[in-house]
Amino acid sequence: MTDKAQQNQLIELLKNARNVFIFTGAGVSKESGLPTFRDLDGEWTKYDPMTFATLDGFLSNPVMVWNMYRERLMQISAAQPNPAHIVIAQMEHYYPEFLLTTQNVDNLHERAGNKKMVKIHGDACRIRCVDCEETYPVSDYDFSEEFDEPKLPKCPDCGGLCRPDIVWFGEYVPQEAFAASINAAMTCDLMMIVGTSGEVSGGYGFAERALSHGAKIVEINPSEGALTHYAHFWIPQQAGVALPQIWKLVVGDA
Ligand code: APR
Repeated sequence: MTDKAQQNQLIELLKNARNVFIFTGAGVSKESGLPTFRDLDGEWTKYDPMTFATLDGFLSNPVMVWNMYRERLMQISAAQPNPAHIVIAQMEHYYPEFLLTTQNVDNLHERAGNKKMVKIHGDACRIRCVDCEETYPVSDYDFSEEFDEPKLPKCPDCGGLCRPDIVWFGEYVPQEAFAASINAAMTCDLMMIVGTSGEVSGGYGFAERALSHGAKIVEINPSEGALTHYAHFWIPQQAGVALPQIWKLVVGDA
C-alpha cells in the first residue's frame, strides 16, 4: 500500500463489494504459531515433502509419517485463531455472497467462525482409510502417544490402514471444493488472496478466472509470490496486522 489515495480506493472497493471470494494459504495461520511450508522456517525445510506428503512416502514409512502428523495435530489444537482469521469470519457475515477457500488443513478458520468455506487440500482433523476411503474424525483415535506399528490407526469398517485426510502431491483436490472455488472465482467482484505463495495453487486458475470477468484482486502477503502479478492491490504486510487495520476502516468501529 503506497499512498493514501490507493488506500482510499482499497477501502471503497471493500465497502462496495457484494460477492467476495477469499483464498488463503499457510501464511494466514503463521501468526497463530503454525509453520508455513516454504518460508525459511517452513515444514518443507524440516521434512522431505516426497516422504511426508505423498502416498508412496506414507506407505513406505507410515509410522514416521503418522508421527509427523501427530506433531502437527498437537500444534493445531494448541493454536488459536489470530486476528486475520477473526476478520475473515466477520467478512462472511458482512458480504451478501461469500466463499472462503483455504489450502490449510488446520481448523482455525472454522474455530474463528467461518461456515461458507471449502478446504481444497483436505483436513488434518480427519483421517481416511487407504483401502475403503471411509473418513473419520481424529477424535475417534488416541493420539496421546507416539505411534509404533501396532498403534497405527486402522479403519473400524475394513481394518485397512488409515492416513491423514490431506491431499498429497500427485493427488486430485476434492472435486466439490474445486468446483465451488471456480464458481466463486467466476462470480465474485472481489477476490482476496491471503498468505499463500501460489506455488501449488497457481495452476488452479482462480485468479485468472476472477480477472477474466473484471473482478478486483487484493493480495495480503509480506512477500511477493506467484500470484502477486494478478493483484490490483498488494499489501506487503502480515495478515494478522493488515486485515484488522483494513477492516476497521471498512466497517468503522461498529
Ligand atoms: N501473513 C500473510 N502471509 C504470510 C505470513 C503472514 N503473517 N507469513 C508468511 N506468509 C506468506 C509467505 O510469504 C508465503 O507466501 O505465506 C506464504 C506461505 O507459502 P507456502 O509455505 O508455500 O504455503 P501455501 O501457499 O499455503 O502452500 C500451498 O503447498 O505444500 C503444499 O499442501 C501444501 O497447502 C499447501 C500448499
